[in-house]
Amino acid sequence: MSFNIAVDGPAGAGKSTIAKQVAKRLGLIYVDTGAMYRAMALYMVRMGIDIEDEEKVIENCKNADITIKYEDGVQVVYLNGENVNAHLRKEEVSNAASKVSVIKEVRAQLVALQKKLAASSDCIMDGRDIGTCVLPDADAKIFLTASSAVRAKRRYDELTAKGEVCDLAKIQADIEDRDYRDMNRENSPLKQAEDAVFVDSSYMTIEEVVDTIIQIAEKRERGNSVSWK
Ligand code: DC
Repeated sequence: MSFNIAVDGPAGAGKSTIAKQVAKRLGLIYVDTGAMYRAMALYMVRMGIDIEDEEKVIENCKNADITIKYEDGVQVVYLNGENVNAHLRKEEVSNAASKVSVIKEVRAQLVALQKKLAASSDCIMDGRDIGTCVLPDADAKIFLTASSAVRAKRRYDELTAKGEVCDLAKIQADIEDRDYRDMNRENSPLKQAEDAVFVDSSYMTIEEVVDTIIQIAEKRERGNSVSWK
């Protein structure tokens, strides 16, 4: 049996930064499920399929063969045999990913891939529905969040460091819109699993969050179901 940690939470809570560090320290692989939805979105964009046309997306999603490999410890997403990692973070793909991810058939296809990966490897997997749908029996579940103001400020600092001009209030409004969409969609909405530990990273450093998650995982590994604050 493999050892699995599930991490869910809203966009910008720091899930991937934290999960990558936990993976390194505990010798797990890091599975970024958002990248799979992004690869599906990239396929639709490249094929010129209208993302709003649900029937067309459903008809075509089976033709997107998405596979995951680990190269030098880094997750590489292959779309029909091509390494597409460099294309997944573009704005157009992010927007399309948020739309394809509401479609039940797309989710079923990608959740099957996620379950298979988790069954065959010790991993920390992040997303929106990992603790609730993908890995209901995960050894440890974390719901990682931060206030929308803090998440907006982190994003603002990231963009300004790259020399981009941006508006903090607009970033926060976008984050709140996305939270609303993620939490209120019909299929697998973002919500905390009953047995997940709530971690609010608003006033924690990355190291503190990583240490907290490692302590939670170690407690669970010893079969101790102490609840954490
Ligand atoms: O975490 P991310 O920004 O890379 O995710 C991309 C999109 O996929 C985002 O709109 C949320 C969605 N997603 C999802 O619905 N379920 C997951 N398990 C992971 C991501």
